Parts: sequence; C-alpha cells; structure tokens
Amino acid sequence: SVSFVPNSHSSRLFLPSTAKVGKTSLIMSLVSEEFPDVVPYRAEEITIPADVTPERVPTHIVDYSGTLSSCLVPLILVGNKSDLVEHSSMETILPIMNQYSEIETCVECSAKNLKNISELFYYAQKAVLHPTGPLYCPEKKD
Ligand code: GTP
Ligand code: MG
Repeated sequence: SVSFVPNSHSSRLFLPSTAKVGKTSLIMSLVSEEFPDVVPYRAEEITIPADVTPERVPTHIVDYSGTLSSCLVPLILVGNKSDLVEHSSMETILPIMNQYSEIETCVECSAKNLKNISELFYYAQKAVLHPTGPLYCPEKKD
C-alpha cells in the first residue's frame, strides 16, 4: 500500500508496505514510462513539478524499503502485478478496503504493463490534498 502525509504547499507521498510488492518498480515505471528489468531497493527521492501533476501541486515521492512501524494516513491500497493474475485483483482488494476506514481508495495496476500507473499517483495526490476520511482512525471497523 501507499500512504501519504499531507502538507499545505506540496504533497509528499511515502510508499511503505511489505517487501517486494513493487514499490520501487512503480516509481521507476512512472518516471521512465518503462518497466525496469533491474531495480534498486529504493528509488531516488524525486519531485514531480507542479505543472505536470493533475492537481498542479509539486509532489515529492519517497520510496521505502522494509517495514514501517508508524501509521501514516491517508492511505490508498494498491494491487500491483495485475499482469500476473487472470481474474481482476479487485476481488481481493475491495474486501480489504471495506475493512479499513483509513483507506481512501484502491486501485489495481501493473508496473510491468504500465497499467494505471499515472492514475495510481493521481489518486495518491488526491488522497493527500482532498482526504475524505478521518485523518487519524485508530480503530478498525470490525
Ligand atoms: P523492497 O524495496 O525490497 O521492499 O521491494 P519493492 O516493493 O520495492 O519491489 P520491487 O520494485 O523491488 O519489485 C520486486 C519484484 O517484483 C521485482 O522482481 C520486480 O521486477 C517485480 N515486479 C514489480 N512490479 C511488477 C509488476 O507489475 N508485474 C510483475 N510481473 N512483476 C513486478
Ligand atoms: Mg524497493
């Protein structure tokens, strides 16, 4: 999953999650518009200039490798590697999304096929700038 810390002048997107889900590949696919054959553990921190983002806000993207213990919100849930499954991974993603109120939205994508890559970062930016849910929600829904 991808989570975000809001800031009034820029959006700062952090990508914490479990290992090997494709965080670094997603950033590199976004930036170079092609799937990287070889990936470092962490992508370089980059800033997307305001004029090329849909919300016209400069956006820093911070990659993360390993486990993050603190809870950063808002969150979006990303089902990457959709190229590996025949069926839609939304079937897997939606029940998770419904269980955690702090998840703003979910999206299925593939760093390999470049499917929904720009959309994913757009949803991420939107989640920071216009969060719909509570900014901190310590309790799960059930
Ligand atoms: P850590 O930083 O080690 O936690 O991993 P990560 O989440 O940054 O994942 P990384 O980008 O290193 O990708 C892990 C593996 O998954 C690599 O072998 C990638 O080539 C592969 N991978 C990433 N995205 C996709 C995808 O969309 N489809 C497929 N088939 N493989 C992918
Ligand atoms: Mg990585």
